[in-house]
Amino acid sequence: MIGIVDMHCHILPGLDDGAKNWNVAWKMIQREYDQGVRRIIFTPHYRERYFEVDQRDAVRQYNQMRSLLARMNMKLRVHLGCECHSHDRMVEHLQSGECLTMAQSKYVLIEFSSAHNFPKIRNRIYELVKSDYKPIIAHIERYPCIVEDIEKVKELIELGAYIQVNADSLLGLESNRIKKFCRQLMKADWIHFIGSDTHDCVDRISNIGKCAKMVEHKMGVSYATRIFYDNPMKIVRKE
Ligand SMILES: [Fe+2]
Repeated sequence: MIGIVDMHCHILPGLDDGAKNWNVAWKMIQREYDQGVRRIIFTPHYRERYFEVDQRDAVRQYNQMRSLLARMNMKLRVHLGCECHSHDRMVEHLQSGECLTMAQSKYVLIEFSSAHNFPKIRNRIYELVKSDYKPIIAHIERYPCIVEDIEKVKELIELGAYIQVNADSLLGLESNRIKKFCRQLMKADWIHFIGSDTHDCVDRISNIGKCAKMVEHKMGVSYATRIFYDNPMKIVRKE
């Protein structure tokens, strides 16, 4: 599939545990392009005590990436976002710009710890929705309290959350249990976004094109188009 939008990746170099340098970042960009990606929202981590990325550094790397892409004449549109680890001052940080939303929209990519229990996740989502944000839960398949009870996903969607899964999880590259959970989510139509969550060009590479092909095969072209293009374009268009 050509024209995929990857809305979750760690390609901007030197900010978090993603690309180590520009050489790696450029290889990751080329891999994304080869997978059929034509638009990317970069989502460096923000996590208190781990990755307290100064958003001015993220903007600087983002601007450098944009000029590099322009120089290389690469037909790839890019935007800046953030994968924000859930924390108590999250709304405050979003309002002050210490954490960025996705492509200057109201969408926020939020991740939790695997140790977070369901009430904690639910309360944070409620808080974000109440503050007029649109939370996208990053790789929902990573949280045991949700994997053990898939109905929890429905509850979160009804609360106003959007659901993202990683391409690798759906492809079965994590574990069979995770693959099964993701496929159940897909059949229930509880997935809004699929991202690569690529971190490097060796181990955590982008398989988003491979995943899109599989989704298209299992669910049909219009479903795949909705997940890999229409929904992420709503972020970019601030819909
Ligand atoms: Fe990530």
